[in-house]
Amino acid sequence: MAHFITFANTKGGAAKTTSALMFAGILTARGEKVEVRDTDPSGGATDWKKMAQKNGTPLPFLVHSANMKEVDEPPVSDADWVLIDTPPVRKPRSFKRQSRRLILSSSPHSQANWT
Ligand SMILES: Nc1ncnc2c1ncn2[C@@H]1O[C@H](COP(=O)(O)OP(=O)(O)O)[C@@H](O)[C@H]1O
Ligand SMILES: [Mg+2]
Repeated sequence: MAHFITFANTKGGAAKTTSALMFAGILTARGEKVEVRDTDPSGGATDWKKMAQKNGTPLPFLVHSANMKEVDEPPVSDADWVLIDTPPVRKPRSFKRQSRRLILSSSPHSQANWT
């Protein structure tokens, strides 16, 4: 069974999409088969895919959009890893169904340097 990892935060701009895509790139470079499931209606991961394609450097893994009902479906490809990019959600744990792994990304706060 594929490994599922959800990238979540209650906020936008917290590096969810960047982390999911970078993680996908790292796993792919290690020879793993990966698909990224873009469940954010604003489609950030899908935008990256389109931009990479347009620039002649297509992403080396599948990115596809999915709605909340599809979030737990098995991979649509032969991927061993399903990385789920999410919109900001109040309860990130609501994504933790198939996903045994949940990555809560966060950007450093300016005050984090002196706390
Ligand atoms: N490690 C990082 N260093 C610097 N900028 C980053 C980093 N991770 C993300 N960003 C930038 O932060 C912004 C928000 O990232 P994004 O992944 O789109 O957040 P989210 O998906 O949580 O809304 C983007 O402009 C992205 O380029
Ligand atoms: Mg995003």
